[in-house]
Amino acid sequence: MQNVTLTRRAVLAGMGATALTARIGNAATAPTPLTAQRAMAQIAPEGYPQTEVWSYDGTLPGPQLRVPQGARLQRRFVNKLDVPSSVHWHGIRIDNAMDGVAGLTQDAVPPGQTFDYDFVVPDAGTYWYHAHTNSMEQVARGLSGALIIEEPDAPDVDRDEVLLLDDWLLDPDTAQLEPDFTHPMDLSHGGRFGNLVGTNGHYALTLKAKRHERLRLRLINAANARIFVLRLTGLSGWQVALDGMSLPAPEPIPEELILAPAQRVDLIVDVTGDGAQAAIERLGNDDQWHSQVAFEISGEASRTRRDAPAPLPPNPNMAPPDLAQARPLEMKIEGGAMGRMSRSQMQGLMQSGNFWTLGGKAGPGDTPFAQLSKGEPVRLRFVNDTAFPHAMHLHGMHFREVLEDGRLGPMRDTVLTFAGRSHEVAFTADNPGKWLLHCHMLAHAAAGMSSWIDVT
Ligand code: C2O
Ligand code: CU
Repeated sequence: MQNVTLTRRAVLAGMGATALTARIGNAATAPTPLTAQRAMAQIAPEGYPQTEVWSYDGTLPGPQLRVPQGARLQRRFVNKLDVPSSVHWHGIRIDNAMDGVAGLTQDAVPPGQTFDYDFVVPDAGTYWYHAHTNSMEQVARGLSGALIIEEPDAPDVDRDEVLLLDDWLLDPDTAQLEPDFTHPMDLSHGGRFGNLVGTNGHYALTLKAKRHERLRLRLINAANARIFVLRLTGLSGWQVALDGMSLPAPEPIPEELILAPAQRVDLIVDVTGDGAQAAIERLGNDDQWHSQVAFEISGEASRTRRDAPAPLPPNPNMAPPDLAQARPLEMKIEGGAMGRMSRSQMQGLMQSGNFWTLGGKAGPGDTPFAQLSKGEPVRLRFVNDTAFPHAMHLHGMHFREVLEDGRLGPMRDTVLTFAGRSHEVAFTADNPGKWLLHCHMLAHAAAGMSSWIDVT
């Protein structure tokens, strides 16, 4: 606050800015805080009580962090909760020491303590940050936010909207979060689903729009387990990036857009609807389409639609891995309800508090799933031998799916694997460190579906 006042006064007085900036710089060596704390949020519709959440900086979702590509992000994480926590920067290819995984890359930050996150952001795009200590509970309680890395040449749009999709499991009378995060039913089935679905911390988000307005929509699935199946009405356009990484050319938006937990998609859309409303709709369990985000259309941004957008600029280091040289690895995904694991195997697992295994092991343990040398190309086949889909996420590096015809798909950090199917991904292990590899259905991750690779 003081710094802001100082700066303003200096500007008003017409002082030379350089000396003053330097002085402020010295006085304020501490990086900007990012504080985990309890807060109240109006998640449920008006008329319902506010919900007590765990938040970053008192807001739900946490503050939207925007950093220019290539800049340094510095945040002093301040833990004002009464449990240990840490912050993970999902999808950003950074130094292992800044990855925020308690127990693997750092110690969890105890209540009342701080940790300084400080890294350069190499890639432009849509990312997010969330707690990575007991994340099944901490993320469900609200500890997540958007991390936007801006291209030096941003695409030509009228507005840039970040839409963080989430769900919450609330008591219908009190609107408070259901406090049992370890229900065996959630752990062993699809995960913990909310009974209220919303966007940017609100049920039924409504935005204003003008006809022919061009919007960049950054969709982030921050839910613990829900796979969003989405469609657009009154909006038409292209998808231009997946999991932060630009596509070589804008592509038509699939009729049903699937966004698994932790996945992101960047869309550039024009408001083309004739009516008073456009919407992003979500397929519900009832097989009906529900409004996820509504756009109220009034006025006109231009007379006609604009030309198709140019592709987003590529990020550095997007060269496809050398498949011919790649070391083949296979990771079996087993366990869970209605799976093929024998009863006695399952009982053994449950005694350790787990329901799932990755590569035959429940939980990260002391030894990595794979020991890789820096620069080594890898192809990793996920064999989903369970009755559920799983959103497999690798920290620190993006991969490309090896498609059926042998071509490589777009770069992603999370791949949705389907029950009874196998999915192969390939990447170059070019980022040294201990990198978590886990299911982003966070109840699954907590119940065995966490592993890691070591790149040296
Ligand atoms: Cu979103 Cu282990 O991460
Ligand atoms: Cu899973």
